[in-house]
Amino acid sequence: MSQTTFGTDAGELQGPEQSWWRDAVIYQVYPRSFADGNGDGMGDLPGVTSKLEYLKELGVDAVWLSPFYASPQADAGYDVSDYRDVDPRFGSLADFDEMLTQAHALKLRIIVDLVPNHTSDEHEWFVQARAAKPGSETRNRYIFREGKGEQGELPPNNWQSIFGGNAWTRLVEADGTPGQWYLHLFDTKQPDLNWENPEVRSEMEAVLRFWLDRGVDGFRVDVAHGMIKAEGLPDWDGAAAMVEGQQAEDSADSADSADSEKAPEGNMNPPSPFFDQEGVHEIYRAWNQVLKEYDGDRMLVAEAWVEPAERLVRYIRPDEMQQAFNFEFLLAGWDAERMTAAITNSLAAVESVGAPSTWVMSNHDTVRHTTRYGLSTPTGFPKGISAADEQPDEALGLLRARAAAAIMLALPGSAYLYQGDELGLPEHTTLAAELRQDPAFARTKGEEIGRDGCRVPLPWYDQEPGYGFSHGSVEPSQPWLPQPESFASYAADRQDGVPGSTLEFYREALALRSEYELGQGVLEWLEASGLHQPDKDILSFRNGELTVLANFGDQPLALSTEFLEDRGVRLRSQPKALTENGELAPNSAIWLS
Ligand code: NOJ
Repeated sequence: MSQTTFGTDAGELQGPEQSWWRDAVIYQVYPRSFADGNGDGMGDLPGVTSKLEYLKELGVDAVWLSPFYASPQADAGYDVSDYRDVDPRFGSLADFDEMLTQAHALKLRIIVDLVPNHTSDEHEWFVQARAAKPGSETRNRYIFREGKGEQGELPPNNWQSIFGGNAWTRLVEADGTPGQWYLHLFDTKQPDLNWENPEVRSEMEAVLRFWLDRGVDGFRVDVAHGMIKAEGLPDWDGAAAMVEGQQAEDSADSADSADSEKAPEGNMNPPSPFFDQEGVHEIYRAWNQVLKEYDGDRMLVAEAWVEPAERLVRYIRPDEMQQAFNFEFLLAGWDAERMTAAITNSLAAVESVGAPSTWVMSNHDTVRHTTRYGLSTPTGFPKGISAADEQPDEALGLLRARAAAAIMLALPGSAYLYQGDELGLPEHTTLAAELRQDPAFARTKGEEIGRDGCRVPLPWYDQEPGYGFSHGSVEPSQPWLPQPESFASYAADRQDGVPGSTLEFYREALALRSEYELGQGVLEWLEASGLHQPDKDILSFRNGELTVLANFGDQPLALSTEFLEDRGVRLRSQPKALTENGELAPNSAIWLS
């Protein structure tokens, strides 16, 4: 397998202080919705390869690919049936190697997703376990238990699936009789692995090595806080959600918010018996050692919905993972005080373990922030939006999303972009129920709208069918999810080279971020800097030579002439961010130096 170096920069890297991931901008590709290379309406790896130049030009350092492995796609690929192969829908291993080689030639790093908490029920291990006897070795790779009740007809405990419904499914044994139950924190088709079994550990380490040998630069670890369950699997009366934590309390505070009833449930009180158990850390200490066997500064990033930040950073202690997604920042929403608090908390917490912070606003599990920020409660966190729900003010959401990007990209640490962020893409908020594919929608009988709205195929060319999602295909099929008509105005080709477009704004911000080395910088809060009056809607900080000012309010903010005279404007979140009278426009941000 080819080993890749990244020119002089990487060649000069010495210790963890200089590691590439400390300040990297990492772009999340959701393969089925990014670009379709073969015209079947489903994105694929050749599609990713065809857009690497675009990503390079955007100015990102690395790409994280959501799962493209063999999978029945019961949870869009987070149900893996073969960890060592590419699903034919997405291409082949040869397509993966080609993509990786081309990415590395462009000095783009590649991070792949690892799904260690559960397999697909079509994984050969589970097929064997199903056919085997209770108590057998193959069953011991998963979490099988006898049911309660006289005939074992009741589930072993009261745990609920994160996607809704029971977290246990009862098997029909080979002789046709009802048998044992197996645990699945997610869908029925995603049985949880038994991480107390050493065979599971060694198999997953072998999977890590398989992809490390191919040359990947890192792994995003799915449900990184979930693999170890409390001994005895005790009953638990909390409500499980993928998105955990403080947001629940905060949203509940705003009782008038239409989103409050849909806000995620916190699970820390009482503590959950299946998330953030002490035992998970041993797994990451072992993986840290596996990565160390390889050159090239490979990394692990934790998807762990754990709070508070002090608990989250335990996943990124020096001998565990390198990064963890910062969901506190994602959940802060459009609110200066909450965002300031999230930034302060995160930086303090990561400092205690010597790791970099990460910043992220959207991913394939959340309503796009462009849309969330355009709702009447811009700190709300709806679990999907349907035509029956409040519809966002799209223009306002976009204005705020760009200002938030100007804040995020000026912060020290590593920033994650979700595909389409750079186009200002909104959520599809009116998808018909019959088109929805998120298992959470079906399992909750539509109570939870689910995540399809943020997974709609990207618009590349506004004049082509499917907005060029299958660009170059002779007879392109319809994209696997329909795009709303408004996507035409967000198409990449409509924005390319257009001054003031969201795409050009992102390109400019990323180039400046690199020029000023903001990712390696130090944040210093400024008290209402340069303003005539301090204001709770202002967020203001310095990072090295650069000063960042953001106005979260709905009134323009007058800046003092001396303040502006001393500095030049380097970036505007929108063309009219700074008026001729020296006012910072509402919902806008600027960079000055
Ligand atoms: C988190 C992933 O991001 C999500 O898409 C998936 O449904 C769950 N983990 C289960 O794997």
